[in-house]
Amino acid sequence: MTQDELKQAVARAAIDYVVDGEIIGVGTGSTANFFIDELGKIKDRIKGAVASSEATAARLRGHGIEVLDLNDVEAISVYVDGADEIDASGAMIKGGGAALTREKIVASVSGKFVCIADGSKLVQTLGKFPLPVEVIPMAANAVSRKLTRLGGQPRLRTKAGGTDAFVTDNGGYILDVAGLSITDPVALETDINQIVGVIAVGLFAQRGANVCLLGTGDGVRTMTF
Ligand code: A5P
Repeated sequence: MTQDELKQAVARAAIDYVVDGEIIGVGTGSTANFFIDELGKIKDRIKGAVASSEATAARLRGHGIEVLDLNDVEAISVYVDGADEIDASGAMIKGGGAALTREKIVASVSGKFVCIADGSKLVQTLGKFPLPVEVIPMAANAVSRKLTRLGGQPRLRTKAGGTDAFVTDNGGYILDVAGLSITDPVALETDINQIVGVIAVGLFAQRGANVCLLGTGDGVRTMTF
């Protein structure tokens, strides 16, 4: 199976977690996009969705799914999203698609985080994928120095093919931090959250996944945490 077929398989499997008549939280990225396409097929069963990015909101609307403002929603039962890496405890690195802050916000009000990922995302130790950290633009260099002191090699994310800084949906910059071997994801999440100028860190450990639907050559494996 190709990687896209694995992503499609987990996206399809995630439909079983959708609660009829409710609002669903929807993540960002190529795997989440497959999920949105599946959600479009059952859109009459849900009340609407809360999106974790402008791109996700546009795709949901394209399928005729109502997108609600999180300020108008009290709670969400289920949040479905991909990951850049996930470990055996359900801790994840996210933000490859730059939507980490809104993903974290929507996940924080959701009862269950269903991670959908192809098998390549399961790792023993988080950190091979550079850890995205969203920062206030004026603090980029100051935060960068502090992340270096924590043992990482931060690099400002730039627009594809250029040297200008990439700007998130929130007007933030992203520092991609290479060289970390994250043996204590909960502690590192706390440490990075405490750096002034950080908007959010793409470590989802304090609130990790509750379920991971992992696409493998032998089918969809369900991991619960
Ligand atoms: C978006 O900011 C990310 O957190 C994505 O969820 C993550 O990068 C996974 O993306 P893919 O499904 O495209 O691999």
